[in-house]
Amino acid sequence: MSHHRPTPPLPGDLAREIARLRESLGERLVILAHHYQHDDVVRHADIVGDSLELARRVPGLAAEHIVFCGVYFMAETAAILAGPGQTVHLPDLEADCIMAAMAPASRVQSVLAHLAAAGRRIVPLTYVNSSAGVKAVVGRHGGAVCTSANAATMLRWALERGDGVLFLPDKNLAWNTADQLGLPAGERLVLDVRGDGRRLDPEAVRRVRLFAWPGMCAIHHRMKVSHVSAARAAHPDALVVVHPECRPEVVALAEASGSTRSIIDYCHRAPAGATIYVGTEIRLVERLAARLAPSKRILPLMASACENMGKITETKLLACLKHLSGGYAVETPPEDAAPAREAVRRMLEACAG
Ligand code: 13P
Ligand code: SF4
Repeated sequence: MSHHRPTPPLPGDLAREIARLRESLGERLVILAHHYQHDDVVRHADIVGDSLELARRVPGLAAEHIVFCGVYFMAETAAILAGPGQTVHLPDLEADCIMAAMAPASRVQSVLAHLAAAGRRIVPLTYVNSSAGVKAVVGRHGGAVCTSANAATMLRWALERGDGVLFLPDKNLAWNTADQLGLPAGERLVLDVRGDGRRLDPEAVRRVRLFAWPGMCAIHHRMKVSHVSAARAAHPDALVVVHPECRPEVVALAEASGSTRSIIDYCHRAPAGATIYVGTEIRLVERLAARLAPSKRILPLMASACENMGKITETKLLACLKHLSGGYAVETPPEDAAPAREAVRRMLEACAG
């Protein structure tokens, strides 16, 4: 995770105005940014990280205003973890994660009820890419949150606490993590959640240990085996590193997979002269390519952009900083805040250190 205050003057009127506001707000403000943000947004951030690193930092922050440059669920998770007197702001409240939208809380609740009615003791495990409503349902059912950086630890944690796990919303991360733990194929199932769980196959419901919600990230799911084959054909010595939101068959062909932080670390650690194909969001791939050239050649496995991450621009960041008294605050429904916090807290506790 990088922690930096840029040294003004930055190029551009917008940048200078943002730097001036940051200066005048001093320690009352902290700006967090995810690795998929635009370069000209990242340059204003005090802390840049992956989902886990950013969530972990929030409880230790003293600033009154936390401006989150990322997508809604990330800012909402920060709001869940923020203390009294702190406000989390998102410079575009419409920056939604499309995967998070694939698991509505009411449907998660019904599917869990169907599984419980079949006599199963299911522990839900939600990827942080989910709404506070989903995190609250999970928290009320004794479950926890995970990120791509700790999914294996948390899946183990959940499997130890029940006789099965409902992993949501990303079926690819569920499968890739089960592969990592060596969970047999016969003990996993991608759920048919149409009809709120009424279509579940009763035989499978008795047998399966890992139920995967059928969600996915279109930005990563687009990357196919054919892209890996084309990369290997073009550069037979190239390394391939991908995000675990990619299809399991793509992850299986890569040299490595992991969170955005671990992808960055992998590229930094690779030997000088290496060519590395990176299968994740294009803004991060391009930043890595610029940072590591000419020593290493970083290429996109496929150019795929997260439009929602891209909604946070320097213009919107400036507007947000000018209106910290209102308009950009992220608010969690009060009935969801405590159980959602419990689910996040279980993750932070299980992965402390
Ligand atoms: P990381 O936790 O790896 O940063 O991933 C977040 C995300 O949304 C990936 O698409
Ligand atoms: Fe969500 Fe995919 Fe964008 Fe990540 S890249 S924020 S999972 S839509």
